[in-house]
Order: sequence, then structure tokens, then C-alpha cells
Amino acid sequence: MKSLSALCSILLLSLSLSVSADPIIIKFSHVVAPDTPKGRAAEKFKQLAEELTKGRVKVEVYPNSQLYKDREELEALQLGSVQMLAPSMAKFGPMGVREFELFDLPFLFPNSTVLHRVMDGEVGSKLFAKLDTKGVTGLAFWDNGFKQMSANRPLHNVGDFKGLKMRIQSSKVLEAQMRALGAIPQVMAFSEVYTGLQQGVVDGTENPVSNFYTQKMNEVQKDMTISNHGYLGYAVVTNKKFWDGLPADIRSELTEAMKEATEYERSIAQKDNDDALEKVRAAKTTTIYVLSDAERAAWRKALVPVHAEFENVIGKDLIQSVYDVEA
Ligand code: LMR
Repeated sequence: MKSLSALCSILLLSLSLSVSADPIIIKFSHVVAPDTPKGRAAEKFKQLAEELTKGRVKVEVYPNSQLYKDREELEALQLGSVQMLAPSMAKFGPMGVREFELFDLPFLFPNSTVLHRVMDGEVGSKLFAKLDTKGVTGLAFWDNGFKQMSANRPLHNVGDFKGLKMRIQSSKVLEAQMRALGAIPQVMAFSEVYTGLQQGVVDGTENPVSNFYTQKMNEVQKDMTISNHGYLGYAVVTNKKFWDGLPADIRSELTEAMKEATEYERSIAQKDNDDALEKVRAAKTTTIYVLSDAERAAWRKALVPVHAEFENVIGKDLIQSVYDVEA
């Protein structure tokens, strides 16, 4: 009898402990505005993760570089100061994983079908395996979209880039891309681009329109060219030690939340960019120019040699495997 009541007390105690246990906190830091594809999907993940784990996990989303800027955020993740990020692929180079720059190669992906086949296939798994060695676990690939160029002068021909200081993300491929156009590349944190453009530290930049509009870059850029010359997307990553240390049931619920958030993200990205373009048009601050086929062919001719330049860094096989994907 005595042992039965002792057992009951132990059961009650463990029940109350499990009910009142503090939730696991996931700090999810990112650098863009909340009303972008990445910003919205981070919120969606929060909602799904909290629902599926019945409150055992709490996700705190910090947008707009509130916690960390580009370079710092990956270091913070490795140190365990934040648990989740979604940096663009261009941001992994400084961490020593250069293969992600595959996604920065200009005119590599003919459309998003090929792109998704690549990231969801063997190439994506290979890239995530590289991250593992850095104490980082890859969870998903999210889209933004194809990038457009902007400046305070029309950019129709390759020659129009001559001498322009163009802000780039921290990617050697993007550096080579700007040089191939005759521009001067300048790495700058995303959070500093608006001021950099406003003060003339840089003359122009490239980004999908959703980023351009939500950072108000249209206020400081008179011309935008719809060139779709390259892609910007994200790898959603977590701290490996944190992830591996989670209770198995929580990890599988978070995996499900990430899967659903990823589907959501990919379903809204294109529309967000289309809507942003309409808003830039409506703001009447920026002339929008669509490259003609001949102009696009000339850009392509100038930029495709960048692929060969990076064969040794990214891997010839990796680049070839993209060429081989059937559209
Ligand atoms: C940039 O720095 O231009 C982008 O990577 C920002 C982002 O995360 O979309």
C-alpha cells in the first residue's frame, strides 16, 4: 500500500514537472523584413512549431538584423547564441563552405523547376553534409527569387556597369560577376545597403524585388533592370548540437513544421516578388526596364565565363550536375 502511494506521488510529480517544464526556446534570427518570403515563412514555422509541439517549443523570430547582421549571424549560430537562421546561399563562403556559391552563378538556372530539382536532390544533400562539419545542420531550402539590378543610371548594356560600385553579398562568385560586367564589387551587410546607397558609398545593387522594396531601396535607386540574371535563396540552418540534443519526438514535430513552412514559403515567394514589383511601379521612384532578348544574350555572354572560373572552388561535377538537370 505504502509503495503504491509512493509510486503515485512519483507519477504525479513527474506529470507536474513535465507539464510545467519551461519551453525549449528557438531564437530564429534573420536580416530581412517580416513581409518578405523569408520573413513570412519564419512566422509560419513559429506558428506550426508551437502548435505541433503543444507549446513545448517557443520560437522567437527576430527580423531585420535586430539581433545579428549577415556575418555575425552564422558565428552566433555556431556559438549557440541563436538556434535557427536562414542566410542566403551567398553567405556561407566566409564560413569555409564555398560550394553554396553554386547558387550564385549567373545564368545557371533556366527556371525555378530546375532550381528546385537541384536543391531538393543530391546536390542539396551534399551541401548540407558540408555544413555538418561546421557544427551546423541544414533543415530546408527556401526561395526568394531571381535577382534584378539597380543603380542611378539605366543598366541596359554590359557597358553601362563600367565603374559602378555595386553592393554584393559576401560571395566570391558575385564579386567575379560584377567584375565581368566592368563594375566594382563591394561587400556590404544587408542592413547597411539602404544607407550605403543613400550616401553614395555604393552606386547600385542586385536583389529580388521583394528585398528591394521592403528595404525602401526604390527611394535611393532611380533605375531597375529586370534581368533575372541570378538567383537568391536560403538555407535554413540550425545549431547541430542543439538539434541533435532535442528529444526525438520534438525533433520530428519540428521537422514536420519545417516541411510545411517550406511548402508555404515556396508557394508565396514568386507572388511576393510580383507584388513588390507592382509597388515599386506605383511608387514612381524608379524606372523599371525589362532587358530585350538581345541585351539579355549580351549579359549572358559576359557572365557565363564566371562558371568556368569557379570550377575548382565549387566543383566541376556540381556545376555539371546542374547543366544535366532536365527542365
Ligand atoms: C542580401 O544580403 O542581399 C540578402 O541575402 C538578404 C536576404 O537574406 O534576403
